[in-house]
Amino acid sequence: MKVAVFGLGYVGAVTAACLGERGHAIVGADVQQGKVDAFNRGESPIVEPELDALLAATRDGGRLRATTNAAEAVQATDAAIVCVGTPSLESGRLNLDYVRKVSEQIAAAITMRATPYVVIFRSTMLPGSTRALAADFFDALLKSGKVRIYYCPEFLREGTAVADFRVPSLSVIGTIDGQAPASGEALELLGDGAEVLTWEGSELIKYSCNYFHALKVGFANEIGRLAKFAEVDGARVMDVVCRDERLNISRYYMKPGNPFGGSCLPKDVSALKSLARMEGVHLPILESVLDSNQAHLDMLLKLVTGQGSRRVGLLGLAFKSDTDDLRGSPMVALAETLLGRGYELRVYDKSLNLSRLIGANEAEIQRRMPHLAQLLKPTAEEVVRDSDLIVASQRCVDLDALRSVVRPDQRVIDVNGWRDLQKLPWVYEGLCW
Ligand SMILES: NC(=O)c1ccc[n+]([C@@H]2O[C@H](COP(=O)([O-])OP(=O)(O)OC[C@H]3O[C@@H](n4cnc5c(N)ncnc54)[C@H](O)[C@@H]3O)[C@@H](O)[C@H]2O)c1
Repeated sequence: MKVAVFGLGYVGAVTAACLGERGHAIVGADVQQGKVDAFNRGESPIVEPELDALLAATRDGGRLRATTNAAEAVQATDAAIVCVGTPSLESGRLNLDYVRKVSEQIAAAITMRATPYVVIFRSTMLPGSTRALAADFFDALLKSGKVRIYYCPEFLREGTAVADFRVPSLSVIGTIDGQAPASGEALELLGDGAEVLTWEGSELIKYSCNYFHALKVGFANEIGRLAKFAEVDGARVMDVVCRDERLNISRYYMKPGNPFGGSCLPKDVSALKSLARMEGVHLPILESVLDSNQAHLDMLLKLVTGQGSRRVGLLGLAFKSDTDDLRGSPMVALAETLLGRGYELRVYDKSLNLSRLIGANEAEIQRRMPHLAQLLKPTAEEVVRDSDLIVASQRCVDLDALRSVVRPDQRVIDVNGWRDLQKLPWVYEGLCW
């Protein structure tokens, strides 16, 4: 394909060089004459292993040039990949001025073309940005089918950017409606084996990845500071932590859903928070984890109370399935608050047998929900039948058993990703989906 690359910085130069290596013809476009000149000489405007050789080979093959004239770049190509900068403003907000400028230029140039064009945004932008750009600059072109727009985030790391482009850690394509692109151009250019989402979904994936990376660094550093305080080798601690690939370095705990609970996580997170406060070890990430969990529970409470139904049924009370441990369970906290506000509550939990509760578990329930025995029902059917709003936090029942009691005027809030709940004829709402 003939491809225009807008913005010849780190991302644009690598994209141009690697697409050139695959045989595409590249027209680079930038506002900086120095970068354009470097490209025209077959030289990289930035330092990155292999880049000079790749650009020189593409130029020698007659497939690389650059210009400061955006319209000319669009006229000479079939697609544009937008890699211009999206820096932070002084306030920390994202500055989309460069992307907006380029969008305006590209849109104006497309109107002069006889044939349709493809625009792929690659710059990192907050969810909703591509749709706003589409509305502001490409609306008529989209309606007339003269442009197809994709958002394909870039995941390369400087220093290993060429290797990362050749074998990306992740490929994502955002389309207007989340459906796979009808034609192959975006896939051919950037999306081999790509995950397809909406524009907004793809934009959020980029931020989720970078946030996760930043969080990992911050977490490791805070554990390191804690280790130093405890006179332990922090590097060794993190090395051993990373050896657990079942719970630590894995998909486990990586699904939005229930707030965490149980007898360990809240207690241990809280103990560390107190220690940090008392000893003056500043651990802002670790200290904020409980607040984050509480915010999640608050959101669930808001969802439940915002529905206007006063008869609420809980499917699952313990902090997870197959245990009767009620200590630190977010569902107990939810129940406690709802009861305090006068809601009519019914509860089903298949692992809960009050007569078998002993010790700290029994004490917890006596303290927080002394009337639990009256709320606890022997079957999920009974809970669902007599409630207008159901909060499902555990997969504790065969859904076929509920079919005869579910009504279309009922609502169910799915806390834990139990998507099959949607197969029953009630109004379904996911906690984070
Ligand atoms: N650098 C990375 O490792 C990396 C990785 C992934 C994603 N990203 C994202 O990719 C985008 C680009 O990052 P970068 O590091 O390559 O930025 P950069 O600052 O190195 O390059 C941006 C280029 O865009 C050019 N530009 C600005 N306005 C222009 C216009 N109107 N027309 C043409 N060119 C114009 C600038 O002159 C500059 O050469 C950013 O959104 C960034 O967040 C960067």
